[in-house]
Amino acid sequence: MNGRTIGVLISGRGSNLQALIEAVADGRLDARIALVISNRADATGLGHARTAGIETLVLDHRAFSSRDEYDRALARALRACGATLVCLAGFMRLVGPPLLEAFPNAILNVHPSLLPAFPGVDAQAQALAHGVRVSGATVHLVTGELDAGPIVMQAPVPVLDDDTRDTLAARILIEEHRIYPAAAQAVLDGGWHVEGRRWSRGARATRSPESADA
Ligand code: GRF
Repeated sequence: MNGRTIGVLISGRGSNLQALIEAVADGRLDARIALVISNRADATGLGHARTAGIETLVLDHRAFSSRDEYDRALARALRACGATLVCLAGFMRLVGPPLLEAFPNAILNVHPSLLPAFPGVDAQAQALAHGVRVSGATVHLVTGELDAGPIVMQAPVPVLDDDTRDTLAARILIEEHRIYPAAAQAVLDGGWHVEGRRWSRGARATRSPESADA
């Protein structure tokens, strides 16, 4: 992957954005966050970006005539800031073909479960309801299938007997904040490939039509 410029998409709190900002500041993430885009003007994460001196942009999806138009606008803004990696950080929108095609194998998402368990909304409540003893956090490449792209990094978190949705979410969040910068760094470092669902470091052994090198 050429270049180490990140664009971050948020919708709300922005604690994962803040984790990326701190990792850049202390050298764990060798990159520049060039732009933070929110689809909501009231996202508190925009404040984290402004405090860190990062350019912000509000692109309200309701102002666009279609999902594709919105995704094209996101892609234009991300390209204009020179982004080579896009990090979704609590961005509550499905990413469609115009954005996926503009950044092939270059969009990351963080999800609060050990995927493929509990995709979609409120993964922590899903985990509690299911009664699993271990949940966790996942960073994955984004594809057209919700929360199903190649997994770059995961961290387990035990589910305790007295956990509520919020206590479990808080412990998972600690792991999200730890692995998201590490996964972004690994992806920016390149030297990895994707074969089927599988993300691996190193060159792939054999060529297959659906595989791609970083
Ligand atoms: C996180 O739990 C993330 O895994 C999920 O949305 C939440 C965003 O939190 N995709 P924040 O906005 O980063 O604080």
